[in-house]
Amino acid sequence: MLGPYRQAVDELVVKFTHIKQEYQDARMYSPIESVSGRVKRISSILDKAHRKGVPIEQIEEKIEDIAGVRIICQFVEDISTVVGIIRGRSDLTVKQEKDYISKSKPSGYRSYHMIVYYTVQTFGEPKTIEAEIQIRTLAMNFWSTIEHSLQYKYKENMPDGLRERLLRAADAVSVLDKEMASVRDEIMDAQNSNRQKANIVTNILNNIENLYHIANEREVSKIQKEFFEIYKKDDIALLKRFNKELDVLSETHHAQSIQSSAGRFIDL
Ligand code: GTP
Ligand code: MG
Repeated sequence: MLGPYRQAVDELVVKFTHIKQEYQDARMYSPIESVSGRVKRISSILDKAHRKGVPIEQIEEKIEDIAGVRIICQFVEDISTVVGIIRGRSDLTVKQEKDYISKSKPSGYRSYHMIVYYTVQTFGEPKTIEAEIQIRTLAMNFWSTIEHSLQYKYKENMPDGLRERLLRAADAVSVLDKEMASVRDEIMDAQNSNRQKANIVTNILNNIENLYHIANEREVSKIQKEFFEIYKKDDIALLKRFNKELDVLSETHHAQSIQSSAGRFIDL
């Protein structure tokens, strides 16, 4: 019975991971930080069915989180972006949304849940299953991971004092997410400039590599030394200027090599 659910989790994790990849390829900030997934263990499925009074033959309809995917975001704001992406996908149909962010659960738990229908192509025929997608920030995830392991440890008997401390910690997480939202722009700027720098360096190294093919070796190793000097200064403006100069230099060499091969051609 679990085969299609495993397949669904594997596929969904790949799909959401690639959304992150697409943002990165486009040199854009990704609203998705990381993606993970799991299939509920058979013993937990049976426990839950028992707890909720679900007969065995109704497990697949009534238990919505046999397949579970978790999407972690950096900032609260990113969550609505991800929700929008999910609503707009043609391979998923949203059955239900539960917003435990605007209003947290009594435990203090915060997260955004979407129950979706997803069709996998199995050996025999297509099969539509339900999956639960949990979307939350890094901070929310920190809290719920720890609270979950305490819940597991204490089962129904969590001491009141601990429960209260967890509630206070949940408030602190909420404050932290708000604080982070207010510095988001600055963090994004820093991330952007890191990415920009990495792009320029890649470009420069590509240019140098190409020059090895078309320019003389002494000239190129001089350029390479120059690059290391500039790189050490950690100044993005200098790197940019150097990159531009290299672009011009490569173009000149390229034009020359075309000219000379054209010349050879005429000589023939
Ligand atoms: P269960 O809580 O699993 O019985 O299902 P439900 O039908 O009540 O749905 P709900 O949206 O409440 O919970 C679905 C999932 O969210 C759970 O399986 C957990 O992974 C997570 N979750 C819900 N409440 C809590 C909570 O108080 N603490 C933690 N750590 N996780 C929670
Ligand atoms: Mg619950």
